[in-house]
Amino acid sequence: MCGIIGYVGGRQATPILISGLRRLEYRGYDSAGVSVIDPSGVTGDGRARVVRCRGKLAALEDKLTKEPAPGTTGMGHTRWATHGRPSDENSHPHRAGSITVIHNGIIENHLALRAELAASGAHFSSETDTEIFAHLVERAVQSGTTDLTTAVRRSLAKVRGSFAFVVMSDKEPGTLVAAKNSSPLVVGLGDGENYVASDVTAILSETRRVIFVDEGEMVTVTRQGVQITDFDGKPRVREPKTITWSAVQAEKGGYKHYMLKEIHEQPRAVADTLVGRVDLEHDDVLLDGIDLDPERIKRIVFIACGTSYHASLVGEFLVESLARIPVEVDLASEFRYRDPILGRGDLVVAVSQSGETLDTMEAIREAKKKGAQILAISNVVESSIPRLSDHAFYTHAGPEIGVASTKAFTTQLIATVLLAIYLGRRTGALPRERARELLAELLQLPNKMRDVVESGAQLQVLARRYGHSHGFLFLGRGAQYPIALEGALKLKELSYIHAEGYAAGEMKHGPIALIDETLPVVVLAPRGPNYDKVVSNLAEVRARQGKVLAVATKGDAEIGGHADDVILVPDSALELQPVLTVLPLQLLAYYVADFKGTDIDQPRNLAKSVTVE
Ligand code: F6R
Repeated sequence: MCGIIGYVGGRQATPILISGLRRLEYRGYDSAGVSVIDPSGVTGDGRARVVRCRGKLAALEDKLTKEPAPGTTGMGHTRWATHGRPSDENSHPHRAGSITVIHNGIIENHLALRAELAASGAHFSSETDTEIFAHLVERAVQSGTTDLTTAVRRSLAKVRGSFAFVVMSDKEPGTLVAAKNSSPLVVGLGDGENYVASDVTAILSETRRVIFVDEGEMVTVTRQGVQITDFDGKPRVREPKTITWSAVQAEKGGYKHYMLKEIHEQPRAVADTLVGRVDLEHDDVLLDGIDLDPERIKRIVFIACGTSYHASLVGEFLVESLARIPVEVDLASEFRYRDPILGRGDLVVAVSQSGETLDTMEAIREAKKKGAQILAISNVVESSIPRLSDHAFYTHAGPEIGVASTKAFTTQLIATVLLAIYLGRRTGALPRERARELLAELLQLPNKMRDVVESGAQLQVLARRYGHSHGFLFLGRGAQYPIALEGALKLKELSYIHAEGYAAGEMKHGPIALIDETLPVVVLAPRGPNYDKVVSNLAEVRARQGKVLAVATKGDAEIGGHADDVILVPDSALELQPVLTVLPLQLLAYYVADFKGTDIDQPRNLAKSVTVE
């Protein structure tokens, strides 16, 4: 998830690009860069000047004071690293010959394209997938297609994946060409000047007249106007809209809080985690060059904190059932204090959104000392935990700003499903046909998630009904038990209401004493082998006048008779159900907190990344 902006007009581009990037920095801050050209030819040598560097925007601003970039057409980028570590060389914009490119997204077939281009003499100066597109456009230009729009169109036919590109050519210095597939892109309309950006926030101080570019559309932007076509060159007529949001609202994409925005981003984030990792041809999983030797792995030990610990508990269920490798899960903050027995046969999987949690880092150091190999599952490329580990799996969820983790959690769940399938295929425990079914279901998951996150209105009503309660209980069995823990954690950290997550079967061993007519009990009861037992637990709660909110599978005609309120999620394979059942719990916690008026994006006493022990 990167931020992109482009400008064509009569004013100096750099200050406009920098001000836009400042508003886009929430999309990534591994590096920043601009490229500017002067169509009048008064300044410069007719070539676009690129100024870029690793680090936050402030570092780029500093660099620009020493290396100014004059000119009235330009593009700017703020990077969230996916392919290629954060570095000066991997910063955007990228150049090939006369072509300059910025990109948000992932080119899925980048390895094959890179090999093809290298074989025919291309030299690359970065590890990014983006640079490949610059080379493709340059080749199209050289092959006699002088018009930039046509060159971009031909190059688009060769790439697969998600992208928003902006392309500039030294030979057409007053033109930007942009294209969109799955990554956001908006065009801003000014007076004798026009803009493109990944988010309206970036251009809102300049214009409120915008066109949201649709999937599969290309835009040619000049001072005189914008032309929109599909990827085949067929013109599309689009009516501009006038934005009425304030700049702050716009940064949150029109949502009241970052957390709500991030809840809604989850289908997209999960799709991004899957990009390039599902190999349908071989019914297998590709792990980005991670080379795990299942022969060596006798046991897997997950270590993590908080929400990442809950994802690890689901991981235990998945790896044991699909790969039949024994798994343990430990709280990173406890791991070191029991002198854990570890050795060469252990694979330690350290799960951390931020990649900076000190407890998890210290646990990794301990595991390394004892000879275990370490795999990090993290959302932040080149953060400390992946760097400390032997292998890194990045979830590609994009920056998570809300302190309460949502999209990081669901993408961690996807990472553990992929790991379990990968190992299961190699240990032989997972038959090819079952792997095929699971992979097909994984690809359908973003659409099913969309269904659930759009059912916020029901959760809002329930939040109002139960939001004044003094406490909540969350119950689940099997892979739904960690989801009960996660539901309770979300509710308590956001709304400050005490909540407990319990294994449904444990209720009768103690917590049942809490139940009376004032206690809402959220029960995770999706279709599956535990269903009947969970329904019995529901009955035990109701017999003691507890209020039951059941999360069940669409089409379940029975559950309504056992619950006060029912929240339905689409059907899916047992292994993928946690990704769907956690969504209403996130929304419930969000709306209860909103109802109570707490500080949702920055709950009291918490920090996004916990770097103390
Ligand atoms: C809760 C939450 C925390 C984190 C925990 C670990 O919503 O976000 O419990 O999950 O602090 O953080 P990471 O995953 O960055 O190691």
